[in-house]
Amino acid sequence: MYDPRHGPRAGAPRKARVTVPKLRKMKSRGERITMLTAYDATFARMFDQAEIDVLLVGDSLGMVIQGLDSTLPVTVDEVIYHCRAVARGSSGPLIVGDMPFMSYQVDTKDALINAGRFLAEGGAHAVKLEGGVAVAPTIQRIVAAGIPVMAHVGLTPQHVHAMGGFRVQGKTEEQATRILEDAIAVQDAGAFAIVLEGIPSTLAARITETLQIPTIGIGAGVDCDGQVLVCYDLLGLTPDLKPKFVKRYAEFFEEGVAAARRYASEVQSGAFPADSHSFGAEQPRAAARYEQGDGANVVPLRPVYGPAE
Ligand code: KIV
Repeated sequence: MYDPRHGPRAGAPRKARVTVPKLRKMKSRGERITMLTAYDATFARMFDQAEIDVLLVGDSLGMVIQGLDSTLPVTVDEVIYHCRAVARGSSGPLIVGDMPFMSYQVDTKDALINAGRFLAEGGAHAVKLEGGVAVAPTIQRIVAAGIPVMAHVGLTPQHVHAMGGFRVQGKTEEQATRILEDAIAVQDAGAFAIVLEGIPSTLAARITETLQIPTIGIGAGVDCDGQVLVCYDLLGLTPDLKPKFVKRYAEFFEEGVAAARRYASEVQSGAFPADSHSFGAEQPRAAARYEQGDGANVVPLRPVYGPAE
């Protein structure tokens, strides 16, 4: 039976799903990995069509969706809710669910139960968690249960207060050595990939060369095995935020403001809706026939936000 939690409906076009072994192979072949965050079915569908390899349902949703100033209040239930939407909207990318603050730090048993929920309830294929040496035993336990884990070191947003803000990490040799040790520890614990966030490019290059698992950089330079961006940054939906490491590939916020202005002005002038957006008088009869089972010439039901013609 179709389970809407775990992927697109039957009949939706299907490509071979990107898998954990495929990502490993990509590193060994020198093929760069593309990863973006996604939080809903429509964006997931857009990035699936663009053939992005990995979709991360990031706890950054706290900041871009919920309007919070950090990721700390985000809950497991909230990320799982968004994972389900992303799973329904995509069939090609590997889907990674981000484990939020305090969902894996307290003890490994809780961490394992929570990680399992991302796969069983959220339709994710892997989880991500932040930290190095300190979380290595937790990673080992989750991986032993068959749940692939992506690690995340360097600037780890769940440590925002300990870091004194969202600051580049690993600038001193001492810090750099600690981050390299963290990266090695999570690889040894069984992580299949690692996000390197907010560290000098030279350090990211060193880690990438040292590790066998793929490194995915954000604010970590070009020498990582792949790159990740928050999709709202990529699409220009965060107008007030212009961090150095972000490249905007579109200006959706400005376009959205302009579109909403045009809409408002056409509503005010009476230019919208035109006849082409309005139903004819015979429409209720056609709809009634459809309800009675005579639907041959009627547009099949689709997820529209109002009556179909
Ligand atoms: O939550 C998130 O979006 C992330 C990425 C920035 C890697 O962790």
